[in-house]
Amino acid sequence: MSNEIRPITVDWNALVTAATAARENAWAPFSKFKVGAALLTSDGTIYSGCNVENRTFGLTICAERNAVTTAVADGRRDFVAVVVVTDASPPAPPCGMCRETLVEFASELEILSANLEGERRHYRLSEIFPEPFDGP
Ligand code: THU
Repeated sequence: MSNEIRPITVDWNALVTAATAARENAWAPFSKFKVGAALLTSDGTIYSGCNVENRTFGLTICAERNAVTTAVADGRRDFVAVVVVTDASPPAPPCGMCRETLVEFASELEILSANLEGERRHYRLSEIFPEPFDGP
């Protein structure tokens, strides 16, 4: 067997399942808008996150950034894909702050936004966030 690194096949349904489960843990008493995210690394590991709101509002962390910081704290930055699950229709793509956070590690990240009704939208991060901040 070769040690060559090959792109992995993304099991979108597994990511949707993980993001949907994480969404159940969302702390969103202020907006009532629960979000779950599932981030896939190159060896198939999935890191999940949910939004965690705060009564100061400004301290709220989004599901995607929650998943990214969990993965980075575990030593992983090789992100291949992310799924975001909400109950919005059409399914909601990542917000600007999350795009900026994701692009730090994977400008060609594949993104799937899904909702509880089964609607899905695919994006590539470079398409929806083409001109990221590139300093310092
Ligand atoms: N939210 C996310 O978790 N991810 C996004 O990409 C956009 C917004 C959360 C933040 C807040 O708790 C709620 O959704 C409403 O904005």
